[in-house]
Amino acid sequence: MTSVSKILADEKYDREAVITLLKSSGADRELLFTKAAEIKQEYIGNKVHLRGLIELTNRCYKNCYYCGIRASNKKVKRFTVGLPEIEQAIKFTYDNNYGSIVIQSGELQSEEFTNSIENILSSIKKIGKGTLGVTLSCGEQSMETYRRWKEAGATRYLLRIESSDKDLYYKLHPNNKKHNFEDRLKALKYLRNCGYQTGTGVMIGLPFQTIENLADDLLFMRNLDIDMCGMGPYIEHADTELYKYRKKVPPKETRVDLSLKMIAILRIMMKDINIASTTAMQTLINGGREMALKAGANIVMPNTTPGLYREQYALYNNKPGINEEAEDSKQSIEKMIERAGCIVAYGEMGNSRHFTKR
Ligand code: 5AD
Ligand code: SF4
Repeated sequence: MTSVSKILADEKYDREAVITLLKSSGADRELLFTKAAEIKQEYIGNKVHLRGLIELTNRCYKNCYYCGIRASNKKVKRFTVGLPEIEQAIKFTYDNNYGSIVIQSGELQSEEFTNSIENILSSIKKIGKGTLGVTLSCGEQSMETYRRWKEAGATRYLLRIESSDKDLYYKLHPNNKKHNFEDRLKALKYLRNCGYQTGTGVMIGLPFQTIENLADDLLFMRNLDIDMCGMGPYIEHADTELYKYRKKVPPKETRVDLSLKMIAILRIMMKDINIASTTAMQTLINGGREMALKAGANIVMPNTTPGLYREQYALYNNKPGINEEAEDSKQSIEKMIERAGCIVAYGEMGNSRHFTKR
C-alpha cells in the first residue's frame, strides 16, 4: 500500500495526511479523485443544484490586495443594479426553475445598504412565491444586520476566510480596522449563531501560500463544521497591489491541480456539504467547471447579472461571461453539467445536507 492508499482506506485526515494528499501525483492522485467521486456519489449523488447569481454592486469600502474592485481602484466604473433589473433577474431564476439565488456584492456597511438587501429579499419572496433558496455574500456585517437579513428571508451566507493563516491573511489585506482577521472569524461565528447555512472558502495558488497553508485551510473548514464551501484559484488582476508578486504565483496548471485536489479532499473530509464549482476555475482553464464537478463539487452559479454591468464586476482579469451572456445561458450550463456526468436538479433549493442533518 502506498501512503495515499493507506490514508484513503483509514479515512483519518490529519494535517500530515492532508499534506500528503495535496502533494500526490500519478496513480496516487488518481486514487484521491476516485475516492472523492465515490463519496460524492454516495452522499450527494449526481445532482447539481443551480444558484442564479446576481452581482448587485461593485461598490466596496475595502481594499483587499488581490481584488480588482477594491475601493482605491479608480479605473473601475461603479454601479449598483437597480431594483427593477434585479427583479427581472429574480424572475429569470424563478421562471427557469433554478431553485436558488445568490446575491453577491462588494462590502458596504450602512443602514441604506442593509435596507436595500432587505428590499431585495422581500422581492425574492414575492416573485419566487417562497420557493427560492437565498444565499447572501455581502461581506462582514454586525450580528444585528445578519439577523435582519435572516428574518427577511436569507437562509445561507458565504463569507470566505480567503486564508486561514493570519500571516498570509495580512499579506493579502491591509492590517487595519477594516481588514481584521479576528473580526472575520467573529463574523463567521455570528452567521452560525444566527442560524444560517454557513459557507466559507479560500483562494488557491496565492503568492506566499504553501501546501501547509492549504492543508490548514481544509482543517479550518472542518473545525468550523461549515455547511458550504466556495473556493477557487487565485487569478492575477493588473490593477491590484498583489500584482507585483505575480512571479511568485504558481503556474496555471499547478493552480488548477491544487484547486481540484482541495475540492476532492474537502469532499472526502466533509462528505455531505455543498461545494461550489467556481467561475475562477473556468477562467483558468477551459472546462474548469466540469473538472471541479468531477472532483467533488455539486453547485453551479450561473451569472444572471444584467449584461451591461458585468464588465465592471471584474474581481480578476479575463473573467468569463463578461462579453458573452451566452456563456452562462441555461443551455450551455446544462451541457457543461452533462459533460461532467451530472444532471441539473431543477426546482430544488438544494440546501446543505450537512446543515439539515445537524
Ligand atoms: N482571484 C480569485 N478570486 C478572487 N476573489 C477576489 N479577487 C480574486 C482574485 N483576484 C474572490 C475572493 C472573494 C470573492 C468574492 O472573490 O475570494 O471572497
Ligand atoms: Fe471588496 Fe470583496 Fe473585493 Fe475585498 S474581495 S475588495 S471585500 S469586493
